[in-house]
Amino acid sequence: MIRNPRDLQRYNASERANHWIVGICFILLALSGLAFFHPALFPLVNLFGGGTWARILHPWIGVVMAVFFVIMFFRFASLNLMGGKDWDWLSKVGKMVDGNDHDMPEQGKYNGGQKLLFWLLTLCMVLITVSGVVMWRSQFDFPVGLVRAAVVVHAAAAAFMIGLIFVHVYAAIWTRGTIRAMLYGTVTRAWAKQHHRGWYRQMTGKD
Ligand code: HEM
Repeated sequence: MIRNPRDLQRYNASERANHWIVGICFILLALSGLAFFHPALFPLVNLFGGGTWARILHPWIGVVMAVFFVIMFFRFASLNLMGGKDWDWLSKVGKMVDGNDHDMPEQGKYNGGQKLLFWLLTLCMVLITVSGVVMWRSQFDFPVGLVRAAVVVHAAAAAFMIGLIFVHVYAAIWTRGTIRAMLYGTVTRAWAKQHHRGWYRQMTGKD
């Protein structure tokens, strides 16, 4: 682990643990959920001790993820409120992906893309959790018509969310020096200055 006293603290240990509990639950839920989604993916149940265990564990892992997502939501929501600068950033994101980030408006702790993703993930979590509870027939007894609608909502929101997490992980890898923020909690000053200049100024008091 590279530790430089000049690095900036981006996440504390509790925030990182919170994030990784959600992340690990997400992976387990995606693997077990995909196994139920299509027969070709059914062998994935073997990772969970077979079909019956996968079916029992999936909703309970979902409860853990929902609880820790709610905590994460309250930790990060106020930092993800969208403003004019964020929409401006989003309208220019194509140029940045093409390698020109000179015209990008200055960003605070999070950029417009991260903020939009945060709210889309929140929407998915609400839809998946509510529909998941309705579908949980061993614990609840909702009318069958509602259960059927919930199955469709659950699958559609989960598929969309898997796509969003691909974008999230890809962006974290693509923006070099980001993953370590969630591993060790710190980022370099150069990283902060380049990607989140407003946050850099706030943290260092420098321009
Ligand atoms: C499973 C693989 C995942 C990886 C590798 C990953 C990686 C990261 C990294 C590196 C950051 C720091 C970004 C920064 O500080 O600029 C971050 C932030 C964050 N991640 Fe993840 N993540 C993963 C899964 C998830 C999942 C499943 C969720 C939620 C459902 C999630 C929600 C968040 C949130 C809310 C933040 C804070 C950014 C914000 O509030 O906009 N992550 N992630």
